[in-house]
Amino acid sequence: MQQVRAVIARSKDAPVELVTINVPDPGPGEAVVQVQACGVCHTDLHYRQGGINDEFPFLLGHEAAGVVEAVGPDVTDVAPGDFVVLNWRAVCGDCRACNRGEPQYCFATHNATQKMTLEDGTELSPALGIGAFAEKTLVAAGQCTKVDPSARPAAVGLLGCGVMAGIGAAINTGGATRGRSVAVIGCGGVGVAAVAGAALAGASPIIAVDIDAKKLETARSMGATHTVDSSQTDPVAAIKEIAAQTYPGAEGADIVIEAVGRPETWKQAFYARDLAGTVVLVGVPTPDMSVPELPLIDVFGRGGSLKSSWYGDCLPSRDFPMLVDLYQQGRLDLDAFVTEEISIDGVEAAFERMHHGDVLRSVVVL
Ligand SMILES: NC(=O)c1ccc[n+]([C@@H]2O[C@H](COP(=O)([O-])OP(=O)(O)OC[C@H]3O[C@@H](n4cnc5c(N)ncnc54)[C@H](O)[C@@H]3O)[C@@H](O)[C@H]2O)c1
Ligand SMILES: [Zn+2]
Ligand SMILES: [Zn+2]
Repeated sequence: MQQVRAVIARSKDAPVELVTINVPDPGPGEAVVQVQACGVCHTDLHYRQGGINDEFPFLLGHEAAGVVEAVGPDVTDVAPGDFVVLNWRAVCGDCRACNRGEPQYCFATHNATQKMTLEDGTELSPALGIGAFAEKTLVAAGQCTKVDPSARPAAVGLLGCGVMAGIGAAINTGGATRGRSVAVIGCGGVGVAAVAGAALAGASPIIAVDIDAKKLETARSMGATHTVDSSQTDPVAAIKEIAAQTYPGAEGADIVIEAVGRPETWKQAFYARDLAGTVVLVGVPTPDMSVPELPLIDVFGRGGSLKSSWYGDCLPSRDFPMLVDLYQQGRLDLDAFVTEEISIDGVEAAFERMHHGDVLRSVVVL
């Protein structure tokens, strides 16, 4: 067991605290990782607001990269010294999804068995089974994905959640590719990553929609060919018009990605897709939300598919090393997502800046 500094949320809506925690030595199937960088994601804020569950105290942070310090006795896939990005989809290999060859939908992903604790022994709940606003964290070995060790930790750690969710929503879930038009509604970290994913896949046009002009500028720098300020313009009409400029007769975009997580923006996505097109919901709604008055004939009449995307339907072992290689080759600008590097005592202030929409990602660097 060792003691390290870490950021916890002790109770609903209380500011986060920097405290000392106990990290057990890794047991069977586990690894201790020395964290080098961890992004501040909207989901960390949801945890601290009690929006995920009530299992306080939470050990926050889950978009991280670092170096494996020690592994349990039976661990062979990773070894001390490996540079890894942490993931929240360590596939079990044994559930129905895994058995039918679709491990990206694994229903029983692995986390560490032992618990990290406060100094008084109180067990911590690590965010998304990771908990990486900490100098060191204990995870399941399968949560460690080896990538090119010369990559910048603050940039590639973001693949651990939001950036992978966005890129995967476009490519894995939406099927973005050459010859397809893509629209993205909501251009925060996740939406802009979806724009970057669509660009990487060769889709065109790529239409970015947001109510914040700054976000639209960023989206353009990441590959959006058109931008729509939906606080000024009807986004459905605008998407239809832009898509039809490239593909005459198109009645919308082939793939429309909702990256806000609200009924009204999902409905915009629904009506802005072409016939037989695909809607991808990657934004996370709250339990009280529903879509009012959607005529069933419109669902039937437009054909196509209505999908949701958890973690961009990614398979970390397949997607992280590939995306890190593209980053290293200068073909995927992960640095552009890192608005600022902060120290471990700056998480609460980073939540504030997130509210004001000034940052794509603040990244804690240790
Ligand atoms: N599915 C997953 O696996 C996954 C993973 C990570 C995050 N998420 C979710 O994705 C969503 C986006 O996350 P983020 O980190 O990008 O958040 P963010 O707050 O950085 O971005 C949200 C964006 O939506 C814009 N927006 C808000 N209302 C809008 C409206 N009515 N029309 C158009 N744009 C609007 C905002 O201006 C902002 O740019 C969240 O719901 C988050 O929980 C999902
Ligand atoms: Zn499984
Ligand atoms: Zn996240």
